[in-house]
Amino acid sequence: PQRIFSGMQPTSDSLHLGNYLGALTQWVALQDGYDPIYCVVDLHALTVNPEPAVLRERTRRTAAQYLAAGVDPSRSLLFVQSHVPEHAQLTWILSCLTGYGEASRMTQFKDKSAKHGNEGTNVGLFTYPILMAADILLYDTALVPVGEDQRQHLELTRDLAQRLNARFGADTVVVPEPYIVKATAKIYDLQEPTAKMSKTASSPNGLVELLDDPKVVAKRIRSAVTDTEREIRFDTAAKPGVSNLLSIYSALSGRTITDLEGSYEGKGYGDLKKDLADVVVAFLEPFQARFHEFLDDPAQLDAVLADGAERAREIAAPVLARVYDRSGLLPAR
Ligand code: TYM
Repeated sequence: PQRIFSGMQPTSDSLHLGNYLGALTQWVALQDGYDPIYCVVDLHALTVNPEPAVLRERTRRTAAQYLAAGVDPSRSLLFVQSHVPEHAQLTWILSCLTGYGEASRMTQFKDKSAKHGNEGTNVGLFTYPILMAADILLYDTALVPVGEDQRQHLELTRDLAQRLNARFGADTVVVPEPYIVKATAKIYDLQEPTAKMSKTASSPNGLVELLDDPKVVAKRIRSAVTDTEREIRFDTAAKPGVSNLLSIYSALSGRTITDLEGSYEGKGYGDLKKDLADVVVAFLEPFQARFHEFLDDPAQLDAVLADGAERAREIAAPVLARVYDRSGLLPAR
């Protein structure tokens, strides 16, 4: 079976609906017929300089949300990035093969460094995509399920993989492919439906966090920005707000957009929002219950993560050894 690899940053107490629909639901679906590895990328989260106790807590909470969403440790390997030192080691090798200009062209880095200025931007933010490439290449990954915002990072990963293979031999690493499902690749902010939903949104009302109070979530959905027409129709250019609500509705209910458009013919935005609020709450309540079960048993959670780290190292160590050897580093005997 094909190897799947993906990860999320533990930079918030809760994942949001964009993380869930853009990535996590695909992770769960890809457990059938594939060989998946899912990682909590805590080293990436250090780029925002979190409080140590907060980072540790969020790492466990992120893992518990993977489990609550249906990531099943008997079918997926689940681990924490910092438990496998090979990630940092391969990052160095890849850093030496990445052009300064090439790294400077990453749009996420350009946005963040523009916002924080030169002095407020740490070097970790700059090399962040190289660490991400190391994550993926260490496991001979075929497919990487992510949202649209990670596409450029995956292109860099592919370029680096091809560069390694050109320099050191065609079979040095596997060149991965992005796995981006169009319908949910970009979930938008409820208040600003042309911007992606993100934990750093300008208003909290645009965000649906998976661990938010369901009453608050229902209210946010009922007050989502739409437009001044009346028609419920999927048209991302003319009706971004309504289209985003339809995308979320379709993904959570399994109903097609066409089916939804049909059943809301002649009805108003208020009806759509009220029903969608019910659909989201019906998903969130059992999700939150499962999350708390996993979080309230830290010994079991840590055991799952320890087992995952051990199995991950067994895969990553020989790949790193291969790259070290072919790079000309003297073997330590
Ligand atoms: P992160 O932690 O920002 O986001 C986790 C996943 O959620 C997706 N996503 C979205 N999808 C649809 N709509 C949205 N509004 C939305 N917001 C976020 C992201 O695309 C991502 O799939 N660099 C990565 C983490 C990472 C990684 C990796 C991913 C590190 N190493 C290796 C894959 C493979 C990131 O910051 O994701």
